Amino acid sequence: INRIGVFTSGGDAPGMNAAIRAVVRAGIYYNKEIVGIYRGYEGMIEGDFEEMDVRSVANILQRGGTMLKSARSKEFRTPEGRKKAFEQLKKSNIDALIGIGGDGSFTGMHHLYLEHGMPYICIPGTIDNDIPGTDYTIGYDTATNTAVEAIDKIRDTALSHNRLFFIEVMGRDSGYIAISSGIAGGAVSIIIPEEETSIDELVEKLNKGGKKNKTSSLVIVAEGGKSGSAMEIAEKVKEKSSYFDTKVTILGHLQRGGTPTYFDRLLASKMGVAAIEGLDQGKTDAMVGIRHHDIIFNKFDDIMNQPKDIHKDDLRIAKILSI
Ligand code: F6P
Repeated sequence: INRIGVFTSGGDAPGMNAAIRAVVRAGIYYNKEIVGIYRGYEGMIEGDFEEMDVRSVANILQRGGTMLKSARSKEFRTPEGRKKAFEQLKKSNIDALIGIGGDGSFTGMHHLYLEHGMPYICIPGTIDNDIPGTDYTIGYDTATNTAVEAIDKIRDTALSHNRLFFIEVMGRDSGYIAISSGIAGGAVSIIIPEEETSIDELVEKLNKGGKKNKTSSLVIVAEGGKSGSAMEIAEKVKEKSSYFDTKVTILGHLQRGGTPTYFDRLLASKMGVAAIEGLDQGKTDAMVGIRHHDIIFNKFDDIMNQPKDIHKDDLRIAKILSI
């Protein structure tokens, strides 16, 4: 493998730039040519490529977002779209790919590999932390810290005005940000997609707190849960409980931006180097991951047919601490 294309795809995540930098620098260190592919699979289909050198990734380590830009491409989900992308890669003599993104990005590279034999390594980059085969994905730590910072600020108002706040955090089908920021932010209840939540039980808990002179409370809600959005849950609770003045805050894309934490920069740097070394050692159709501080590689078929389990013990801890 001599010439490697690097791209970011799906939702941006803080630390993606650190991963691009690591791929470019490690690639050059191992005498590879590195080509930046702009706008994910969209740019791949259009041939939006640029040669990268050591200086093209200067001063990006500490920046949020992705210098290569990102997209969610509908066309690449079709065999015709993938054929177009493969032809562009061949035209540019790219003989392997390193893609930084979530499960959709990984699945895209897997299809390109099956249909056209393009070797690749995926680097997990998503704030949702919902990819099996790795303890952490790039961006999750920063996004959770951002959420905790926001929760702390909202707590000030909740306390000052004796209010109940429902705070919605991101995580499409995943409760990772919710559970971690909920524990760290001292939430009375955490509602996640992985678990059924009974509104009656929630109301009972809030009423119990109210009777014990608890004058303010924070409930963290992961978006996309079965019980509804934070807004919907707040409405249902309002109908059944009169203890609190109720407000809703949706943190939204605030959680996707910002300077990456040291943890995400370190993780991204390790994974970027590992992706280059992995390709060089003949690894393909795989994702680099981290398990107990060690870099590991997992084949697509070994991890992508199962959902990533939420840490059940975290749920237990959250319940113990919110009495
Ligand atoms: O996958 C990351 C994520 O931020 C999810 O948490 C969220 O559901 C989704 O992306 C939002 O996507 P978009 O930015 O395309 O609206």
